Amino acid sequence: MEVVIAPGPELARLAADAVERALRARAAEGRHAVLGIATGSSPLAVYDELARRHAQEGLSFAGVRAFMLDEYVGLPVEHPERYRNVIEKEFASRVDIAAADVHGPDGLAEDLPAACAAYEAAIADAGGVDVQLLGVGTDGHIAFNEPGSSLASRTRIKTLTRQTREDNARFFDGDVSRVPTHCLTQGLATVMSARHVVLLASGKQKAEAIHHLVEGPVTAMWPGTILQHHPHATILVDEAAASRLQLAAYYRETYALKPAWQTI
Ligand code: GLP
Repeated sequence: MEVVIAPGPELARLAADAVERALRARAAEGRHAVLGIATGSSPLAVYDELARRHAQEGLSFAGVRAFMLDEYVGLPVEHPERYRNVIEKEFASRVDIAAADVHGPDGLAEDLPAACAAYEAAIADAGGVDVQLLGVGTDGHIAFNEPGSSLASRTRIKTLTRQTREDNARFFDGDVSRVPTHCLTQGLATVMSARHVVLLASGKQKAEAIHHLVEGPVTAMWPGTILQHHPHATILVDEAAASRLQLAAYYRETYALKPAWQTI
């Protein structure tokens, strides 16, 4: 696990670099990259940077397939907070990825377990995710894997915690009763299957979750801790989110001394 402590804009550039590198590496093999994309505020600056590179530097997402982490159950097709619509607005509409190449779990399916199984199959059929962008909830959830989630879980229905619904009420006019109670989410094992995981967190409200995720014992009570088992996980945090890290000085030194040839 690599921890980088830096200001937000630099973190966004590093995450965008990881995405761009995967796009170029796959293209060199005559293939298209598979991206794992996240909602929430944490990856927004990354999408801004990718959109900028697309517009100004010709970075192309044509042929790239993208898989979302999660989706609310039951939000109507046109609801602005339906994650499919959020991703369209924040990312897909700003680059040249085809709408048909952006996938998410179907929170409106009649048969939700079947939709979850189909989603797992679609990710596998695409060859798995090359780079997975991630945020973390204040309760340590990644995707929507709330505390207590099986560390071996795959895409399934979950009940959101009260805390997550309160955190997300800001997107629903501050009204927690309008935040759906259920979601479909990639499981922790699904997230762990991605070849490179890039997690972003900023702000003091994430400090406790980041402390557990990086330095705590691996436990379903802090689901993001499973990333300690990932062979290539990069944790990008600003000063505030890093404020409870015991080894912050070591992470800073490691990054400062990073060999020039070594990417995140
Ligand atoms: C949401 C999403 C997660 C996200 C997390 C943090 O509920 N389901 O994928 O990482 O909570 O959100 P934010 O980045 O807005 O703090």
